[in-house]
Amino acid sequence: MASSDQGSSGAPKPVPGSYGLPVIGAVRDRLDFYYFQGQDKYFESRVERYGSTVVRINVPPGPFMAKDPRVVAVLDAKSFPVLFDMDKVEKKNLFTGTYMPSTSLTGGYRVCSYLDPSEPTHTKVKQMLFNLLLSRKDEVIPTFRSNFSGLLATVESELAKDGKAEFNKLNDATSFDFIGEAYFGVRPSSTELGTGGPTKAAKWLIWQLHPLVTLGLPMILEEPLLHTFHLPPFLVKGDYKALYKYYSTAGKQALDMAEGLGLSREEACHNLLFATTFNSYGGLKVLFPGLLANIANGGEKLHEKLVAEIRGAVAEAGGKVTLGAVEKMELTKSVVWESLRLDPPVKFQYGHAKKDLEIASHDGVFQVKKGEMLFGYQPCATKDPRVFGATAREFVPDRFVGEEGSKLLQYVYWSNGRETESPSVANKQCPGKNFVVLVGRLFVVELFLRYDTFDASVGTELLGTSVVFTGVTKATSGPGS
Ligand code: HEM
Repeated sequence: MASSDQGSSGAPKPVPGSYGLPVIGAVRDRLDFYYFQGQDKYFESRVERYGSTVVRINVPPGPFMAKDPRVVAVLDAKSFPVLFDMDKVEKKNLFTGTYMPSTSLTGGYRVCSYLDPSEPTHTKVKQMLFNLLLSRKDEVIPTFRSNFSGLLATVESELAKDGKAEFNKLNDATSFDFIGEAYFGVRPSSTELGTGGPTKAAKWLIWQLHPLVTLGLPMILEEPLLHTFHLPPFLVKGDYKALYKYYSTAGKQALDMAEGLGLSREEACHNLLFATTFNSYGGLKVLFPGLLANIANGGEKLHEKLVAEIRGAVAEAGGKVTLGAVEKMELTKSVVWESLRLDPPVKFQYGHAKKDLEIASHDGVFQVKKGEMLFGYQPCATKDPRVFGATAREFVPDRFVGEEGSKLLQYVYWSNGRETESPSVANKQCPGKNFVVLVGRLFVVELFLRYDTFDASVGTELLGTSVVFTGVTKATSGPGS
C-alpha cells in the first residue's frame, strides 16, 4: 500500500497557489483558518482548489506579528520529509512558525527549539537533554506508575461522587509532577511551587502560542487580543521566575553536567525549563487526552485485546511492569503510534530552503527558491491515503503490528522525523522520541491493568482533545498491579 519515496515524474513545475493581495489576503486567510473553515478544511480546500499537495498559501498569524506569512506548504507523505533534511532546510528561529515569541519569555536566550543544528549551542543543549534522559531511564517506569495510579484513584473517587471525572485537569497536575519527578527526582508540588506549577506553565505557554490558537471567544475580541500583537511578557514574569526557581534547585545535578558540556548554568537552566515545561509538559498535556480518546472510541473489543496482551506480558514478567514486558506488547505499541499518526500533538513544522530545491510530491516535482519558507501541516501528511489507504482517516489499532505493519512506521512523523530514524545533535528530531513512545505505552498499561473497560465522552479544548471519564469497570483477572 505504501507508495515509493523514490523518483518523481515529469519536468519540475512552479508551485501552484496564491497569496492574494498584500495584508488583506493574509488577514482574510487568517479568518478562514480560525473561524470560517477551521484548520483541516483550510489546508484541504486549498489542495483541492489548486489540484496539488504542494501549494503556496498564507499561514497564520500574519499581520502584524509575522513579517511574512507566505509559505510553500508540503501536504502529503512524500513531500513532507523535505522538512527533516538538514542539507535542504535551515531551522533557525522558526519553532513556532512565521513569528517568534520574545526571548524575554525565555530569560533572554534563544532556547534549543529555536536553534539550527549548525549553531554550536544546539549540540551542547541537545546533548545535555540526551544525557539527562539517559541518566534517569530507570526512574521512568516506577515514577510513571506511582503518579498515574494516583490519577486513576482520583478518577474513581470523582466517579463515585459526581458520576464523571474530567481527565484533562487531572492529567495536567499529574503530568507536571511526573515529569519533574522523572527528570529530577523532585515533585514540583512538594516544593515552594506547590500545586500552582501547571497553571503558571499554562499561562506561560499561552504567551508563546496565542497567535496560533482560538479560545472560542467572538472574533471581534480574539483578533485584536490574540492574533494581532504579542501579549506583553512582563505579565508572566512572576510565573516564569517561580518555575525557574524550581528548575535551578531541583535540576542541580543536570546543571552540573551541563557545565561540563560547556554551557553556562543560566543558559542551561532556561533550556531545562523550556524542554521540561514547553516540550515535555506541553506534549503530554496533548498526547494523553488524544490517546485516551482514541482508546475510548475503540470500544470494548479493543479493550479486551489490550487487557489480554498487557496482563499476559506482565504475568510472564512475574507480575512486574518491566521494560522487557512492555516491549512485548505489540498491539499496545501500535495503538500509541496510531494515535500519534492520527492526532500528532505538534501539527505545524517549518524550515527555510537552504538553496534552490526540487520537491517531489506523488504527482509531480516543484521548484522552490533559496530562502523560501517551507511549511508542513502534519495531519495531511500522516493521513495521506496514498500511503495509508482507504482507512487513512480512521483509528486502526493494529495498523503497525507485524512485519507488514512495521513497514508503515517510516510514514509516522510526530517527532519531526521518521519513526524509523533517531534524534541526534545533527538533526532537529525530538530528543524525547523514545521517552514519549514509552510513556504512551505505560499509560495504556496502567489503564488496562486496572480496568477491564471504561467509558468516556470526548470533546475538544484549546490545544486538542478533552476527555471525561463516565464509568470504569475494575479488573476482574490478571496481575492487576
Ligand atoms: C523538538 C514533538 C516531547 C524536547 C520537537 C519537534 C517536535 C516535537 C514536532 C520538532 C519541532 C520543530 O523543530 O519543528 C514532541 C511531542 C512530544 C514531545 C509531540 C510529546 C508528546 C518532548 C520531550 C522532550 C522534548 C519529552 C524532552 C527532552 C524537545 C526538544 C526539541 C524538540 C529540546 C528541539 C530539538 C532540536 O532542537 O533538535 N518535539 N515532543 N520533546 N523536542 Fe519534542
